[in-house]
Amino acid sequence: MLILEKNMLTEEIEKLAEQYGNSRASLMPILQAIQIKYNHISDHAQQEIARVLDIHPVEVYGVISFYAFLHAEPRGRNIVRLCKTICCEHAGKDLVEKAIEREIGVKFGETTKDEKFTLEFTSCLGMCDQGPAMMINNEIYTKLDPEKACEILSTIK
Ligand code: FES
Repeated sequence: MLILEKNMLTEEIEKLAEQYGNSRASLMPILQAIQIKYNHISDHAQQEIARVLDIHPVEVYGVISFYAFLHAEPRGRNIVRLCKTICCEHAGKDLVEKAIEREIGVKFGETTKDEKFTLEFTSCLGMCDQGPAMMINNEIYTKLDPEKACEILSTIK
């Protein structure tokens, strides 16, 4: 992160602390604001949030790692979630998983360098009779096979 970007982020966090107050109770709204704007909460942001709220950075990181909607690492603009629960597993999830990894060029649990895609597993999407199932952002896709999954991804690429 460039020095200018770091300074802007620091200013932004200081403004958020003015808006929400600089007590520990403001931690969550500040984290949410930074997550929404930057799609993750960088090390620098964590340090600065800890500084303005006068708490330990470990506490900030602890909250980020506790909540599934907060992230310390950059995430893709498109989140691909493949169901790893038993019905989808039996319906051929492994083949779909390999095809998606080949198509996108990263493994599940990773984000592409251009931050276009993050691949992750999810628990049941409620489409167990139509597996394998995946969700891309807010859209659910069912009855996947490797070809169909790659076709869907190519429309987003
Ligand atoms: Fe995959 Fe339910 S097991 S959608």
